[in-house]
Amino acid sequence: MSGTIEILADSGALAARVGALLVERLVAVQAEGGIPSIALTGGSIADELHRELRRVATDAPVDWSRVEIWWGDERFVAADSEDRNALQAGKAWLDHVPVDPDRVHPMPARGEGSLEEAAAAYGEDVRSHGTGRFDVVMLGLGPDGHVASLFPGYPALDVDDAVAVAVTDSPKPPPDRVSLTFGALNRATSVWFLVSGEGKADAVARAQAGEDLHDIPANGVRGEQDTVWFLDRDAASRLPD
Ligand code: 6PG
Repeated sequence: MSGTIEILADSGALAARVGALLVERLVAVQAEGGIPSIALTGGSIADELHRELRRVATDAPVDWSRVEIWWGDERFVAADSEDRNALQAGKAWLDHVPVDPDRVHPMPARGEGSLEEAAAAYGEDVRSHGTGRFDVVMLGLGPDGHVASLFPGYPALDVDDAVAVAVTDSPKPPPDRVSLTFGALNRATSVWFLVSGEGKADAVARAQAGEDLHDIPANGVRGEQDTVWFLDRDAASRLPD
């Protein structure tokens, strides 16, 4: 595990802290005339963060129309499927703030071409927008140490010549997914891991122990400037004192 650790009381405190820091970062990049680029993740703590961002959005001094929004991974299902990370983020947050639809970049859905075409198209999309870099990449953590849809022992971990990759046998349903590769995820100023719950404590401890990225894919991602692990107490419960 690289970077620093922040331990919050619970998932609500974690979402509030990350929400405040994200607003701070968006404001800072915009204050310098930039258009911040962020990558969202899926899962339950991400959903709690997105709800928090909706709650604070109105008062936040962010020009939401000038934020580029990407995803670290997506389930390859129909665009209107409840399983879609993009649909969940829309319901919880993005549909309720004045983002510029042209700056919101969901990954292609089933029915818009093959899975491989979806991965290739997203890679082109990321490359064609500026430098293909992110100001902040946010990632949930699976109990097996996966991030995005990069799972332990999977060939996608070793793909170093693509921005996005097709995953066809995800151990976490649904099976078909598109994921950014380590190379793409690491083109980030900041990487923030959002980890809540006792079920992740073992993976957090294994990451902290420095296990190889093939066993703990989270250890394959680090920000160019900073990497922060936002943990609630339960997720941090197996870290050495
Ligand atoms: C996905 C996510 C995935 C998720 C972790 C944690 O598409 O499923 O991107 O990487 O972030 O599995 O999910 P939970 O927070 O729900 O445990």
